[in-house]
Amino acid sequence: MKKKALYPGSFDPITYGHLDIIKRSSEIFDELTIAIVDNPDKNPLFSIEERKKLIKKVVQVDNVTIDTFSGLLVQYAADNSFQTIIRGLRAVSDFDYEFQMSLTNRRLGNNIDTIFFMTDEKYSYLSSSIVKQVCRYGGDISSFVPDEVSSALKGRLK
Ligand code: COA
Repeated sequence: MKKKALYPGSFDPITYGHLDIIKRSSEIFDELTIAIVDNPDKNPLFSIEERKKLIKKVVQVDNVTIDTFSGLLVQYAADNSFQTIIRGLRAVSDFDYEFQMSLTNRRLGNNIDTIFFMTDEKYSYLSSSIVKQVCRYGGDISSFVPDEVSSALKGRLK
């Protein structure tokens, strides 16, 4: 049986931190699905379709697919037969939130498991919001996001 996993997130936009998790988890699982959430609590810079297009441009790995969802993650996982969620942990500050989500999802989602990857130390301080902020004020974001994402950000924030 193929081992498949789900990597959910806002990806507004995708950064090198996310790409590191995608690379490492896609080497362990037979199939990885990046699931972009339509999160009404966040006010995204890019629409969900724009985020999907950007990810398609920068992730070209055979066993990785990209999808979008709204509503509960565990519902999406059940509808698509996922039993494993991937998340990245950047620092201790991520732990409480991730711990809470992981246990809630396990309770709601038929014992679904969350597997955590320690984010590469190079990206441990990175977030999509920080990248947007640096770009908005004209800072150099070339070490945070690929060129395609950088161009899209500059176009949007100009
Ligand atoms: N490297 C760099 N940055 C990273 C990162 C990494 N490895 N991992 C996470 N981040 C950043 C993201 O860029 C993001 O930054 P931002 O807040 O500035 O946008 C931030 O960390 C949050 O990460 P993200 O993965 O986008 O998480 P989220 O909190 O927006 O969404 C979901 C997490 C999708 C898993 C959650 O919202 C969800 O499940 N939603 C569906 C509704 C649901 O089921 N709710 C109940 C859950 S218990």
